[in-house]
Amino acid sequence: MQTVSTLDPLRSAVAQLRERGPVALVPTMGALHAGHLTLVRKARERVGQQGAVVVSIFVNPLQFGANEDLDAYPKVLERDSELLLAEGVDLLWAPVVEAMYPQGFATSIAVSGVSNGLCGASRPGHFDGVATVVCKLFNQVRPDMALFGEKDWQQLAVIRRMATDLDLAFPAAGQIFGVPTVREADGLAMSSRNAYLDAEQRARAVALPLAMKDAIAAIESGKPIAPTLAGLEAELLAGGFHQIDYAQLCDAASLAPLDTPIPGPMRLLVAARIGPARLIDNMAVTP
Ligand code: PAJ
Repeated sequence: MQTVSTLDPLRSAVAQLRERGPVALVPTMGALHAGHLTLVRKARERVGQQGAVVVSIFVNPLQFGANEDLDAYPKVLERDSELLLAEGVDLLWAPVVEAMYPQGFATSIAVSGVSNGLCGASRPGHFDGVATVVCKLFNQVRPDMALFGEKDWQQLAVIRRMATDLDLAFPAAGQIFGVPTVREADGLAMSSRNAYLDAEQRARAVALPLAMKDAIAAIESGKPIAPTLAGLEAELLAGGFHQIDYAQLCDAASLAPLDTPIPGPMRLLVAARIGPARLIDNMAVTP
């Protein structure tokens, strides 16, 4: 596995890999866990042994708000690098901040509509930062395909929207693949931010997927949505979460909030705070 941290060596490394076969990109912020590694394995399945898997690790300052956890975000590049080597990753792109945002950098990509509610409302500017860095990563690596986790459902929708709207070709919007959320044995979605939890908070955090499953069962059995979501929030607050940023039923594709069920795919999305961590999760709701 080659590791590069500036743009010129990246471009020559990718050019060599491309001669062999298709290139898949898995963008991450590091502090890798089994969820990230599942994306890497899915990427390998898609490109085959001839193709190349490129992973980026970059803790993108643009997507963190002023009072968020940019400084606290775990940075363990050496350990991450060993994990990726063991997965047979071909190239690790770990740019220094100056390579990503040189002096004078002044451009931002804002995807409206799908960015506006949910995490976009509780983290103003977050998805502009995500869209901007992902567009740069796409242009830097020019992969044939890219893989993202459904754990960040809204992020995936924002990136697909951007790729469609900007006529991106590397990757084309149709080559942006979502991978189902990987969970701990008790059901908590894996996240680098779970590391912020102490043992008691970690034990209580399982209330999030459990309460979501209860709410989904209720909605699928025809219970009204507003009181069900209110019940979900109450359950989380009683279970040790201290703030619910949102608990919403949405159209799975447009992310428009729903107060009555629709015949097509729906998604329950929740963001809630426990101890120092803001946890997000989402699950399918079937009509
Ligand atoms: P990060 O949080 O490191 O996540 C990198 C990728 O891993 C994302 O596509 C995310 O959805 C996926 N992922 C995280 N936890 C997962 C889980 N439990 N199961 C499946 N996939 C999971 O998301 C980002 O970084 C950044 O916003 C980024 C896209 C890299 C832009 O900076």
